[in-house]
Amino acid sequence: MSEQAKKPIKITETILRDAHQSLIATRMTTEQMLPIVEKMDKVGYHSVECWGGATFDASLRFLHEDPWERLRKFRDGFKHTKLQMLFRGQNILGYRPYADDVVEYFVQKSVANGIDIIRIFDCLNDLRNLQTAVNAANKEKAHAQVALSYTLGDAYTLDYWTKIAKQIEEMGASSICIKDMAGLLLPYKATELVTALKKAVKIPIQLHTHYTSGVASMTYLKAVEAGVDVIDTAMSPFALGTSQPATEVMVETFKGTPYDTGYDQKLLSEIADYFRPIRDEALESGLLNPKNLGVNIKTLLYQVPGGMLSNLTSQLKEQHAEEKFYDVLEEVPRVRKDLGEPPLVTPSSQIVGTQAVFNVLMGERYKMVTKETKDVLAGKYGATVKPFDPEVQKKCIGDIKPITCRPADLLDNELDKLESEMAQWKEQDEDVLTYALFPQVAVDFFKYRQAQETKVDPAVADEKNKAYPV
Ligand code: CO
Repeated sequence: MSEQAKKPIKITETILRDAHQSLIATRMTTEQMLPIVEKMDKVGYHSVECWGGATFDASLRFLHEDPWERLRKFRDGFKHTKLQMLFRGQNILGYRPYADDVVEYFVQKSVANGIDIIRIFDCLNDLRNLQTAVNAANKEKAHAQVALSYTLGDAYTLDYWTKIAKQIEEMGASSICIKDMAGLLLPYKATELVTALKKAVKIPIQLHTHYTSGVASMTYLKAVEAGVDVIDTAMSPFALGTSQPATEVMVETFKGTPYDTGYDQKLLSEIADYFRPIRDEALESGLLNPKNLGVNIKTLLYQVPGGMLSNLTSQLKEQHAEEKFYDVLEEVPRVRKDLGEPPLVTPSSQIVGTQAVFNVLMGERYKMVTKETKDVLAGKYGATVKPFDPEVQKKCIGDIKPITCRPADLLDNELDKLESEMAQWKEQDEDVLTYALFPQVAVDFFKYRQAQETKVDPAVADEKNKAYPV
């Protein structure tokens, strides 16, 4: 080992984004995060993932926080560490494809407010849906990382992955991430995949996985040995289960090897001490469900991401049909096949999951079809790796002729229209983007914000009373 050249493994810390998204429904507040930023900034992380994904939606909807304000506060606090976000390609941080002008403006404002690395993925791995975001990131001099949404199926061979990896390198990405949202990548498969990708492209390869199926830390070990450049981990209080492997454990694992990170375990343990009471509180309140902390082997069996399993459970609970859980789980892969066997990641995971629920509850497949399922079958989300089932397509969209071009080519620029719709609420340039993604939730938030601002601060009121006694 000692003769081997040193190649310290780099780490992206996920506790401020994916870890709490996976374990506590993205409910960690800015106030809870900020006090520990200074210490986290000293670790020497490759990057801290802290924005994007579901954080934007959850901040507005549940925490009444401006996500842009959160980002600016992170930027102020992290003086040395790169800030990373997750971006859903043409769907931005929302659930439908947006016109190019919105995508470009969102990227521009994300970088202007402090993002260094943008991890961009498409739920169908249709690279045409990534090009606008990649170009925009490059234009803003940010690091454009393109993520392969990892999944299993006949079409997803090593040839397939290396072919799209080469295309990603050609389209101008700065690095590639294998994004394994369900924890399906097994350790020895990771050796094969990383080896093949390292051979195919020159840009760095990062690996992102989840502990859901229990194999993740072994997968990282094999991937690192095969030459992966960066891995995603979470500080131990919000690690494991549906989250990532623990940062401290991976750091210790590689100590004294050519992959040694050199991170200070004492510093890491101080950071863990800070987050542990937040975890305890979440366990006590029920926000952190102990069920999400164990090994869920069904994720391997049904190839369903952890987040999707809990969504299905709650959808069925609402319909008082919890006994249909396994019927739905078995329907998921069938619907996925009908829809061209896409990876299951936002928004395709929600689309396939909801349609599977309808198919089971209605007692007839595709008797009730969601708008999103129709849109997928009409090509509006892009091209799938396999063809759609022609009979299902016919039943769902009739004689509508599916589109085959890049879906955003058919979308007119939206920004001007959005600006005029939300003009009365605008307090900062970024507000139009907030409105673009979640119109209803944004307006509710803008109203809340206005109410907060017009509320007279008691201290100020006192001062006034003193100055102008009535
Ligand atoms: Co993830």
